[in-house]
This record gives sequence, C-alpha cells and structure tokens, in this order.
Amino acid sequence: TRRVRTRDLIAAKERGDRWPMLTSYDQYTASIFDRAGIPVLLVGDSAANNVYGYETTLPVTTEELLPLVRAVVRATKTALVVGDLPFGSYEEGPTQALRTAVRFMKEGGAHAVKLEGGRRTAEQIRAITGAGIPVMAHIGFTPQSEHTIGGYRVQGRGSDAEEVIADARAVAEAGAFAVVLEMVPGEVAKQITKELTIPTVGIGAGPDTDAQVLVWQDMAGLREGKAPRFVKRYADLSGILTEATKQFADEVRGGEFPAEEHTF
Ligand code: KIV
Ligand code: NA
Repeated sequence: TRRVRTRDLIAAKERGDRWPMLTSYDQYTASIFDRAGIPVLLVGDSAANNVYGYETTLPVTTEELLPLVRAVVRATKTALVVGDLPFGSYEEGPTQALRTAVRFMKEGGAHAVKLEGGRRTAEQIRAITGAGIPVMAHIGFTPQSEHTIGGYRVQGRGSDAEEVIADARAVAEAGAFAVVLEMVPGEVAKQITKELTIPTVGIGAGPDTDAQVLVWQDMAGLREGKAPRFVKRYADLSGILTEATKQFADEVRGGEFPAEEHTF
C-alpha cells in the first residue's frame, strides 16, 4: 500500500468512481478512517469548532492546526492528508499564502493544502501550486466569510449560479487539483462537476459531485444539537459515550470498579 496521490483522484473521476472524504484532527480517528478506506482526510479549520470550541472558524491559527496535521499524518498509511489554511493566513496575497502553505507541508507533513475562495484567491492558488504544493479549493459557502455572506446560506441560487461557476473555472484554471463545493444547489454542482476535469467534493451540494465530505463528528453523531440539513448521522457516538461515562461514574461511586481482574 502507498499513499493516495492527487493524480489517483483525477483518475478516479475519469473512471467515474466516487470517493468519500472526512475531516480528522487526531490519531485515533485518522487511523480508523485510513483503515476503513477513506482516501482523503482533511484537517479542517473546522477544528476551530470541533476541537477548540470556538463559535466560528475565524479564531483558529496555523499554530493550533499544525500539531493536529502532524498527528493525522503520523496515524495514516494511505490517506492523502489535506491541511486547511486558517482565516488570516493567506488573504494578504500570494506571498503570505505560499509561506503558510509551506509551513503546512514542512512542519505539518501535509500532502496538500486547502483554502477558501474562487476568483478572489486564484492568485494564491497559482503561487502555491507553482511551488509544487497541491491545492484543494473551496467555493460556494465559505465559512471564513460568514460575516460578509450573512450566515450559513446556500450560494449560487438563481442568477448567482454564474458566480459559483466562474469561481469553479477560476480555481481549476489556477491549478487546483480538486474543489470543495459547499452549500450550492445540486443542479449547479452537477453542471460544475460535468464541466471541470478536476474532482468536485460536495458538502450540501447534492448527489452529483465526484466526492462527498462531512465533518466526522457530524457523520458519527458526536456533535449534539441540530445539524445542518446536508448532514447524515451514521452513528450516535454522543449517546454511546454518554452511556459509557455514566456507567463508569456509577461503578466508581458504587465500588464496582475496579474489580479483582483490574487489580494487581
Ligand atoms: O474545515 C472543514 O471541515 C471543511 C470541510 C467541511 C470542507 O472545510
Ligand atoms: Na474548512
């Protein structure tokens, strides 16, 4: 077994094979997802919410993400690990973007980086790919701009479809190896997927993209509360962990744990 390469993902598209992608931020999930055959793992800036407990993705820093990238890379054998460039680490221009991307590759050991924005970050994508670093783009709803967008809103409805399509063309033209389409109408995602030769990775973008990504805590039901409509929960980890925790607590209080077999 060897690591998945970006060329494998493009070949998969040519064959018409779809692939799954998940976020991961730690060694245990990374190892489980790797062995379960998830070819691409994203150390998302969604660690802001899902690891560090921030309200939005805006506060998380490169310094907070790099150790998580290292953990995921160390724990995997075949997955291609993508490091997500956090807000504030690439917007100033191609020089800043390349500097940050190099840190993710060199210090984090990532195999690719991801950043948000279409036409507005095409120059950054060009600079990073020009240095030999694969870039996954991210268009449609981009959480780092939620204050401009005005919340979690579907992008590309009606006549706005042309905006998302123009962004898709721009990132492909700039050299991205794949593009995340977040919260765009299924029909728009389908059209972009058909037009581009690079794979599209949907999240809230319907069934016709080349790949699908979810935040793992959403997929596995660890996150509590109301999930967005595009999330499907494949397990109830929060329920399982709550039960295990209550049982442990009860057994300690009742003197049942540790038993003889746990005792030296
Ligand atoms: O940070 C993240 O989790 C993401 C994906 C959901 C695409 O950017
Ligand atoms: Na992200």
